[in-house]
Amino acid sequence: MITSIFALVLNLSVVQLATAKIHHLFVGNLGLPASIYALEFDDQELTLVNKRNITADSSHAWIAFDHSMKNVYGASLSAKRISSYSVHPNSTLRLDASLNATGACFNQTSAFVLPSSHPPYFAYTGSWAGPNGCGMAISTHPNGTLSNVTQSWKYVNTSAIHGLAFGPEEKLLYSADLSADKIWTHAIGEDGLVSLVDRYDLPKAGMHPRHLAAHPNGKYLYVLMEHENTLVEYEVDKRTGAPVKELQTFSLLPEGLVHNFSREVDTSDPTTPGKNSSGYWSAEVMLSHRNSLLWASARANTDTDYVGYISCFGLRSDGKIRELLFMEPTTTTGGIANQVSPAPFSDEWMALSDFPRGYVEIWPVMNLREWEGVTARPVAKVEIGDGGCCANTIWYD
Ligand SMILES: *[C@@H]1O[C@H](CO)[C@@H](O)[C@H](O)[C@H]1NC(C)=O
Ligand SMILES: *[C@@H]1O[C@H](CO)[C@@H](O)[C@H](O)[C@H]1NC(C)=O
Ligand SMILES: *[C@@H]1O[C@H](CO)[C@@H](O)[C@H](O)[C@H]1NC(C)=O
Ligand SMILES: *[C@@H]1O[C@H](CO)[C@@H](O)[C@H](O)[C@H]1NC(C)=O
Ligand SMILES: *[C@@H]1O[C@H](CO)[C@@H](O)[C@H](O)[C@H]1NC(C)=O
Ligand SMILES: *[C@@H]1O[C@H](CO)[C@@H](O)[C@H](O)[C@H]1NC(C)=O
Ligand SMILES: *[C@@H]1O[C@H](CO)[C@@H](O)[C@H](O)[C@H]1NC(C)=O
Ligand SMILES: *[C@@H]1O[C@H](CO)[C@@H](O)[C@H](O)[C@H]1NC(C)=O
Ligand SMILES: *[C@@H]1O[C@H](CO)[C@@H](O)[C@H](O)[C@H]1NC(C)=O
Repeated sequence: MITSIFALVLNLSVVQLATAKIHHLFVGNLGLPASIYALEFDDQELTLVNKRNITADSSHAWIAFDHSMKNVYGASLSAKRISSYSVHPNSTLRLDASLNATGACFNQTSAFVLPSSHPPYFAYTGSWAGPNGCGMAISTHPNGTLSNVTQSWKYVNTSAIHGLAFGPEEKLLYSADLSADKIWTHAIGEDGLVSLVDRYDLPKAGMHPRHLAAHPNGKYLYVLMEHENTLVEYEVDKRTGAPVKELQTFSLLPEGLVHNFSREVDTSDPTTPGKNSSGYWSAEVMLSHRNSLLWASARANTDTDYVGYISCFGLRSDGKIRELLFMEPTTTTGGIANQVSPAPFSDEWMALSDFPRGYVEIWPVMNLREWEGVTARPVAKVEIGDGGCCANTIWYD
């Protein structure tokens, strides 16, 4: 008995020691000025501060760490190139390379970059905002700096690719083709190059698949439909990994009441945005660190005074969506971002960014251990009112 109490106390103090620390994050700007900010989050004091303003190669709609965390890659909606920075002490970034979009992607911009964590450590991008959507496979130097656009490919001429995701062991690349309402599956070879496996046409035009995530068990693919404001779970083909069938669809908006900034609005009035979802466009879907939670976000249009919503789903160990754990309103519309970034080291933290309001918030997940009354709300916030902040946030540690 005494031993077990001692063990418990020891465990608790280990947990506390392990969590009492400063976390470093970077957030990019969607608009001008072309900046990246280095943030520090203290998980005891619950403070989030901007420690450094970094001049970027261009505004980055999406930034991502490479597998070694020694480099950051940036996709851009204003520049027709992909940028490669190295990470230096004290949260500084140095621009090492800037690769022009070439081949099928000549003269195209991009909203996403996905670095691989498997050799040969290529990075993949898709072009946004279309038409004539394309993809690129980019090789890297041994030190992680982007090297060469080794391959480019076309989708169809109506395509515009918003999000990309890897399948199990990074042997598959899924592309969310928002404008053509398709989900594309490519196989990734040992050499990092891709080849087309399948094209899945969504049942209706205008669903607008924006971002997607695949469970590492290889059974389920989750696709966020921007226009429908839904999250759809797909069964994937055992052999090819391509989506074959819609299994479950979840609304990312509440039923009954929606939150105006200053009051709750009854959605029995057919003109409230919550009733017909015309005032909303959903944004993001992301798996948590241990793949037990699936986050999704819905944004209210920037010109409304309604707020966005963050949904969090509990997954079975095989990846099937078990239930919606909670849906929480955000404090603003979410505008053009409402980008959720689950921490890469724990299921219990998430960073949320908003453009054009210009802030990043940290949301801890509460009651996760008990699986009863699981919820989240913001506990720390940094405002970055430069007019261009904030696109996505990435956690360094
Ligand atoms: C990595 O190597 C490339 C090619 O030699 C070089 O251009 C780049 O500056 C290097 N990056 C770093 C972070 O040293
Ligand atoms: C780290 O950066 C901050 C802000 O620019 C600066 O005040 C500080 O001196 C730097 N520390 C080191 C060790 O370079
Ligand atoms: C990249 O594109 C820019 C603008 O089109 C051009 O000025 C530059 O020479 C190109 N760089 C390379 C390495 O091709
Ligand atoms: C590049 O695309 C723009 C539209 O974004 C177009 O106006 C321009 O003509 C294109 N340039 C080339 C060289 O194709
Ligand atoms: C760069 O990629 C192109 C294909 O886009 C290829 O022809 C060329 O050999 C590559 N260069 C290097 C140095 O790998
Ligand atoms: C796509 O191609 C078809 C036929 O080849 C053509 O009719 C259509 O205008 C093209 N659409 C775009 C967006 O280029
Ligand atoms: C939100 O509520 C405020 C205060 O009641 C009201 O003035 C405004 O019209 C409402 N906005 C919408 C879109 O219903
Ligand atoms: C949907 O809601 C918008 C207001 O957000 C309203 O303008 C529009 O008429 C509604 N559409 C329908 C079919 O009720
Ligand atoms: C960094 O940029 C933000 C947003 O423009 C500004 O509020 C802040 O003062 C800047 N900080 C430094 C150290 O330049």
